[in-house]
Amino acid sequence: MRPDAIKLAPSILAADFTRLGEQVAEAERAGADRIHVDVMDGHFVPNLSMGPPIVKSLRGATRLPLEAHLMIENPDFFIDEFVAAGTDAFVVHWEGNNDLARTVHRVKAAGKRVSVAINPATPADVLEAIMPELDQVLVMTVSPGFGHQHFLHGMLAKIRRARAMIDRIKPGCGLEVDGGIDAKTAPLAVAAGADVLVAGSAIFDNGESVTAAIKRLQAATQP
Ligand code: DX5
Ligand code: ZN
Repeated sequence: MRPDAIKLAPSILAADFTRLGEQVAEAERAGADRIHVDVMDGHFVPNLSMGPPIVKSLRGATRLPLEAHLMIENPDFFIDEFVAAGTDAFVVHWEGNNDLARTVHRVKAAGKRVSVAINPATPADVLEAIMPELDQVLVMTVSPGFGHQHFLHGMLAKIRRARAMIDRIKPGCGLEVDGGIDAKTAPLAVAAGADVLVAGSAIFDNGESVTAAIKRLQAATQP
C-alpha cells in the first residue's frame, strides 16, 4: 500500500555549518517535516560528525522534530544526553548491537520515538521480531558514514519487502530511506513503499536555495 503523505527529513550533514540555524529555518518554512542529525563516532563508521551540542543549538532554531541517527558504538551511553539536548526521535542501527531490544526500550522509556536502521548488506528480515516495538524502520540506501553517495538501486527490493512487512505486522510504522535521495531516486523509493525521505546533498548542496531544493523533491514525490 502506498502511503498518502510523504515526509521530508533534511540531513544537516550537507548543510553550511556557518549558517546552520538559517538553513534549518529555511527548510522549516519550505515544508520540511523533521530535521535529520547524523551522529558519527569514527568507529561505527569511518567518519566523525556531530553530537548533542548541535542538537541543543538546533532546538532553539526550529520547531521541527529533531531526529538523531546514531552511527556510533554503544548508543545506549548517549541516549540520555541526546534527550537532554532536545532530541525527539532516535534512529539506532541493528548492526553491532548485542541487545537491540534494550536500546529500543531505553529510547521508549525516555518517551521518544524509536527507529531501527539496517545497512545495505543486512536483510529486511532482521526487522521482523523487533518491529512491533518500533515507530519506524530505516533502510539505508548507501553505506552509512558519508553524504553525497549514489543511491543503491538494489535496495528497492528491500524497501518493498520492508513495506510488505509493515503492512502485515505494524501498519502505521514509518519507512524511512537514507542516502542518495534526490529528485530522480525519491520517486523510486516512494513507489517501493518509503514514506519518509532523508536528503542531505539534494537539499543543502544542490546549487540552488534550500527552498527550491525542497520544492523540487516535494514535486517529484507527489502522488
Ligand atoms: C549517511 C547519512 C545520511 C547522509 C545522506 O551515513 O546517514 O543521512 O547525510 O546524505 P545524502 O543525501 O547526500 O546521500
Ligand atoms: Zn542519516
